[in-house]
Amino acid sequence: MTTYKNCRIPFVVANWKINKLQGQVFDYLEKVNQQVPDSSVVETGIAAQDIFLADMVRETENSPIHVVAENVHWQDAGAYTGETSPRALADLGVTYVLIGHFERRKFFNETDATVNLKVMAALRNGLKPIVDIDEDMSVYTQSMEAQPAVAQVAAALAGVSVDQIRNVTIAYEPTWAIGSGEAASAQQAQKAAQLIRQTLAQLYSPSIAEKIRILYGGSVDINNAAQIMGQADIDGVLVGRAALDPEQFLSLVAIAQQTSSSQPAD
Ligand code: PGA
Repeated sequence: MTTYKNCRIPFVVANWKINKLQGQVFDYLEKVNQQVPDSSVVETGIAAQDIFLADMVRETENSPIHVVAENVHWQDAGAYTGETSPRALADLGVTYVLIGHFERRKFFNETDATVNLKVMAALRNGLKPIVDIDEDMSVYTQSMEAQPAVAQVAAALAGVSVDQIRNVTIAYEPTWAIGSGEAASAQQAQKAAQLIRQTLAQLYSPSIAEKIRILYGGSVDINNAAQIMGQADIDGVLVGRAALDPEQFLSLVAIAQQTSSSQPAD
């Protein structure tokens, strides 16, 4: 476990949602751009509204920070007013895209089927999907197959090839923890991540599953991040509220760096 964890580069992703204005975007990037480590140490990403992505790509040109879209459509082009094409995102220089965030599923009727279409569209266009799994896994005593989260992982990844899966990151975000101020315990998060990794092992192979990053999201802050990221199967965090503040984002990145250089907890 230790060996494999060490070969997965930790990943810290801020999810700004729709909380920033243009001036704040520039201020934030100016504060963090040169302060994050190289991507070979900790990868960093910021997910923002589409209207800011072009500015962000330009502003992060000389920074290791990856620009992340919060959503994408599944068609490359066509008559889909108001949607964003994965081809256009890739062309712009966006690297990652969040797919199937709980808020998309809850407020915008995203389903496992549309999540899967979007994952395929992202991969087809060279974008790296961060696929959200929001099913609660706190009831852990059921058989693995009975877990809705297992079905959600399988549905999101249907048709994703062995070559493509290497470009996928999974984010486990229990619905009750998002924005609530009440994060899952490090043990709960680890159990869920372990179950997701077992599912990936069944869908692909154990050795491929060991190479795929699994993030935890839901009320992560500078007080709980070290414990959460210290878990054997957790390779980073997806952070909303705490990461709205550039200083806290940098602290979370520093915590990721520290935990990756120490032994993961079992
Ligand atoms: P939160 O949001 O950190 O504010 O709970 C996480 C997310 O929605 O990805």
